Amino acid sequence: MSSFATSDGTKKYAARFAGRAAAGHFREQQGLWLSSIGIGTYLGEADARTDQQYTEAIVAAVEAGANVIDSAINYRLQRSERSVRAALEELARRGFAREEVLICTKGGFLTPDSDMPADVNEYFQREYVATDILREGDVAAGCHSMAPLFIADQLERSGRNLGVETIDVYYLHNPETQLGEVPRKMFNNRVRAAFEFLESAVAATKIRFYGMTTWNAFRQTENAQDYLSLAAMESLARDVAGASHHFRFVQLPCNLGMTEALTRSNQPLDARRVPMVEIANKLGITLVASAALLQGQLSRGLPSFVVSALGLQNDAERALQFVRSTPGITTALVGMSRVEHVRANLALAGVSPASRDEFSRLFERGRTP
Ligand SMILES: NC(=O)c1ccc[n+]([C@@H]2O[C@H](COP(=O)([O-])OP(=O)(O)OC[C@H]3O[C@@H](n4cnc5c(N)ncnc54)[C@H](OP(=O)(O)O)[C@@H]3O)[C@@H](O)[C@H]2O)c1
Repeated sequence: MSSFATSDGTKKYAARFAGRAAAGHFREQQGLWLSSIGIGTYLGEADARTDQQYTEAIVAAVEAGANVIDSAINYRLQRSERSVRAALEELARRGFAREEVLICTKGGFLTPDSDMPADVNEYFQREYVATDILREGDVAAGCHSMAPLFIADQLERSGRNLGVETIDVYYLHNPETQLGEVPRKMFNNRVRAAFEFLESAVAATKIRFYGMTTWNAFRQTENAQDYLSLAAMESLARDVAGASHHFRFVQLPCNLGMTEALTRSNQPLDARRVPMVEIANKLGITLVASAALLQGQLSRGLPSFVVSALGLQNDAERALQFVRSTPGITTALVGMSRVEHVRANLALAGVSPASRDEFSRLFERGRTP
């Protein structure tokens, strides 16, 4: 049996929701059928109660039509990945196969394990420096590394935390964190070296795809210090592995308050400048939106023109509807540690994404909230 998301597995998953999921809720990308809403695991306390809440929320999300699960090794000090593991075990007991869900995680930020140690520096020294996993010059901004040995170590740890043989999507987590300190040429060399390792991890079936998650990089204007060009990053993957490279997923914030992925033409494409959604499509890279509710802030108080453009029951639904209806965005990630939020948000699985007319109405006033 395969130990990763497959075309057949995700198709079977989508078929479970025949008659319940509206047209357009599942989208085919990279040969997989992925839900327009996915569950994120970033926020919340690093405690046993939140662990349990996330486990229950992930089980509820998969049962309600979300087959994209997003985590990171540093989320809640590795506890979120372990909540995913517990959820996958429970889902297996309930008859869901590993092949049906896309498991995504990230590495790059140094993180303690489970609890904050009394002396964090002593912990990193013992765990990473004394063991030669991190060497002189490997860490930027005091917290971030893309050194291949470090990423290899983090990938192993994530695999154990998640309890999976193969991680479907492994992201370099906010690589632009390094750009405040590392010259661009060195940055590109670091990314290329990380991609070389990640291609070898694909060959070893430890991961299926790799990518980058970002906060600022792909939304900035070109003159910003932490700006990144997607074509430039993709060309590093091409240098490493040719046209059939596995740099196929990128995450960036996209929500009613952060619309740059769609509205800012900051990405060079031939002689033009185009928005992220266009360049990603051109390069065959799947875009996943993070912070779909702007960390919960868009779940209430949306202006009336959004209400009249999108309809629906409440502001959380409208905010999510915007993201999942944005052309070029495959999955809107929403952090949900509470089952009640899962039930509320996944009601949208039964609603088709906004039509082009409905979506365009949002922009008629020439502004977003
Ligand atoms: N750079 C990066 O790599 C990056 C950055 C940010 C986010 N992400 C990913 O994207 C995911 C989503 O972003 P996020 O978690 O930061 O923010 P978010 O999805 O915009 O918001 C999550 C917050 O909204 C609350 N919420 C969810 N549904 C709600 C509803 N129907 N009504 C009211 N409140 C609701 C959640 O509460 P409960 O927890 O109580 O359910 C949580 O506090 C993350 O979990 C992470 O996986 C990646």
